[in-house]
Amino acid sequence: MKNIGILLSGRGSNFEAIARSIATGDVPARIAVVISNRRDAAGLARAQARGLDARFIPSQGKTREAFDRDVIAALEACKVDYVCLAGFMRVLGSCFVQKFSGRILNIHPSLLPAFPGIDAQKQALESGVKFTGCTVHLVDEGIDTGPIVCQAVVPVLESDTVESLSARILEQEHRIYSEALKLLVEGRIEVDGRRVKIKETVTSDE
Ligand code: GAR
Repeated sequence: MKNIGILLSGRGSNFEAIARSIATGDVPARIAVVISNRRDAAGLARAQARGLDARFIPSQGKTREAFDRDVIAALEACKVDYVCLAGFMRVLGSCFVQKFSGRILNIHPSLLPAFPGIDAQKQALESGVKFTGCTVHLVDEGIDTGPIVCQAVVPVLESDTVESLSARILEQEHRIYSEALKLLVEGRIEVDGRRVKIKETVTSDE
């Protein structure tokens, strides 16, 4: 069973969705640790309520390298194989990305490469696009630039506010994050340049 480490900074609804998929057996993995750089993150309390190893590792007042080192040490101590960024609002340095190369997923609330960075839903509304959505991608050293694993499309309605659009995107985030994590832990993701190819599951007739 592969060990997952979750990094979050806020509400933690994507973490909850992953935890549910693991509990139902849809994703064959185990959450080894949940780490937040914010002590008051609701996601950390949710992890504690589930009886998980939930840790606060402060980022304030530390260099990026020092914070990354502390997080890497915790993940390694918990024998983490794969890392999920679930509303984790800090950029990871190259040392971190290289250490877990090809083993870090992030969820972003837009159809990347459109609207990277913060306030993706607001950016989508202001740009006037008719469709937006969400993306799960492997993390590389850029911001929201890694190879795309799964995407879901969400129409933008004339009546939408940032809140209503974000809520509909979030429903899709919860669905595709577990889908992408399942592919990753099953070893079915193959990266070819910028493209991700999904290997078929091997079924045996024997
Ligand atoms: C989600 O909408 C996620 O896509 C977004 O933060 C929210 C976290 O919600 N992440 C980013 O914008 C990363 N650039 P959650 O804490 O309820 O999972």
